[in-house]
Amino acid sequence: MNIIFLGPPGAGKGTQAAYLEDKLGVPKLSTGDMLREATQSGSKLGQHVKQVMEAGQLVADDIMIDLIRDRIRQQDCADGFILDGFPRTMAQAEALDEMLTQERVAIDHVLKLEVNADALVERISGRFACGDCGEGYHDMHKKPTQEGVCDRCGGTEFTRRADDSAETVRKRLDGYREMTAPLMPYYESKALLRHVDGMLPIAEVTSQINQIVGKKAA
Ligand code: AP5
Repeated sequence: MNIIFLGPPGAGKGTQAAYLEDKLGVPKLSTGDMLREATQSGSKLGQHVKQVMEAGQLVADDIMIDLIRDRIRQQDCADGFILDGFPRTMAQAEALDEMLTQERVAIDHVLKLEVNADALVERISGRFACGDCGEGYHDMHKKPTQEGVCDRCGGTEFTRRADDSAETVRKRLDGYREMTAPLMPYYESKALLRHVDGMLPIAEVTSQINQIVGKKAA
């Protein structure tokens, strides 16, 4: 099964994509995570990407399209994948369609998480992650069971993202409205768009998604 998550920064795409990865047994391809890894490499590309991300802007389409093309050709994507953070522009959506036609696969569902703007800011400002395995948490909504210890790997170091500052988040939200929101009518016209109420507690959002992916695509 091939799934796309759409939604503004902080809507819960990464959180729900991780649950779905476990449920479906297909990999979650998070372009944000891939780019953050690239920034750690110290390469020229990594340095460029770091600057773009910290400014709250989008990385160029050609870089992103090559990244995803290489990734979905890997063996672990043979039975499907979950896209978290891609596509984000019309050029990316059209390039994805071309790639999928070449690979003779199709998207089953585009899950759009609907969350209001106040909640997005609150979610992003409370977000942190395990520094060892990357498991995501929130100061209010998803705390580790034992304070200071990661539920998944037992790690005790936690990190906050450099692009989660108030000013950068505002720019990311503007970018979403301008560049990514136009994808909704595109996927609506292909009868792939499924609206998910992302304002509900995490487990209830998961359960809505499970109901959708449990059904065959329309
Ligand atoms: P990326 O990493 O993709 O960031 P984003 O899209 O801005 O989304 P976030 O990761 O901020 O939020 P999320 O929706 O995953 O929410 P989460 O589950 O963490 O991209 C970062 C940057 O990389 C971009 O700005 C751009 O520069 C670049 N980039 C990436 N892809 C690109 C592309 N294709 N093209 C060009 N540039 C690209 O949840 C947030 C918090 O809320 C968590 O703490 C979570 O625990 C909590 N939470 C989740 N769900 C709920 C709920 N239902 N109730 C209460 N709390 C909740």
